[in-house]
Amino acid sequence: MDGFPNLGTGIGLRPPHYADVAAGRARVDWLEVISENFMVEGGNPRRVLRQVRERHPVVLHGVSLSIGSVDPLDPKYLDQLAALARETEPAWVSDHLCWSSVGGNFSHDLLPLPYTEEALAHVAARVQKVQDKLKRQILIENVSSYVTFTQSTLTEWQFLAELCERADCGLLLDVNNVFVSAFNHGFDAREFIDGIPVGRVGQIHLAGHSDYGTHLLDTHDHSVCDGVWALYRRAVERFGRVPTLVEWDDHIPPFAEVLAESRKAAAIEREVLDARAA
Ligand SMILES: [Fe+2]
Repeated sequence: MDGFPNLGTGIGLRPPHYADVAAGRARVDWLEVISENFMVEGGNPRRVLRQVRERHPVVLHGVSLSIGSVDPLDPKYLDQLAALARETEPAWVSDHLCWSSVGGNFSHDLLPLPYTEEALAHVAARVQKVQDKLKRQILIENVSSYVTFTQSTLTEWQFLAELCERADCGLLLDVNNVFVSAFNHGFDAREFIDGIPVGRVGQIHLAGHSDYGTHLLDTHDHSVCDGVWALYRRAVERFGRVPTLVEWDDHIPPFAEVLAESRKAAAIEREVLDARAA
């Protein structure tokens, strides 16, 4: 795997923080933007993005690729994404291992796949097509999920590891999503982390979730919990230094508070790597 520079710790750029970041008041290593929010050429979003990009490395994170769907890949969407990538020159481009449309009808959810050989071959071929179109390797992210398929013959981490090999893509490892799905489906989150190949993880996501007792919901509406920080430590022990980003999508606090979460990740990374080196 190549082309995924080590940028340090970043945050997801969200509308309440556009003005601060565009004006250069954000001391953050890098920013992740939601691709679809900037796809229309011209207009204010693109202007903001250009201002942000002048000051910070940026990565593009998509939510609508629907790489696992049996609907054809949308050529217009891919054209727009390729144009955005040409203009923005992001450090990398990512999207999710999920499907979100069937028969042209779109769900706003990132729905999980059955982890089967058939699905693997299907997704690997589509990832290769996207990479050919964008002329770069992409990162694929594990989603949080609330249902599984009885047809699955592979674990989610086996599926992801094999996908990286077949499509020669990288992984965006969302540690919070691993934690949420592990609780909801009763698997060991550490086994997931240990099953992901070292050298394929180009980025890590962290976020807060909500605990409903019977299940966890991936809400991205508050700080990262202790259990997710502990799992992050294990990820750093295994994968070493990986660009890490905190996502916050609802009840978004002032920029300084999101930045503090990002700095906490940097401190944990330093601590784990110092201990590993000693
Ligand atoms: Fe994520």
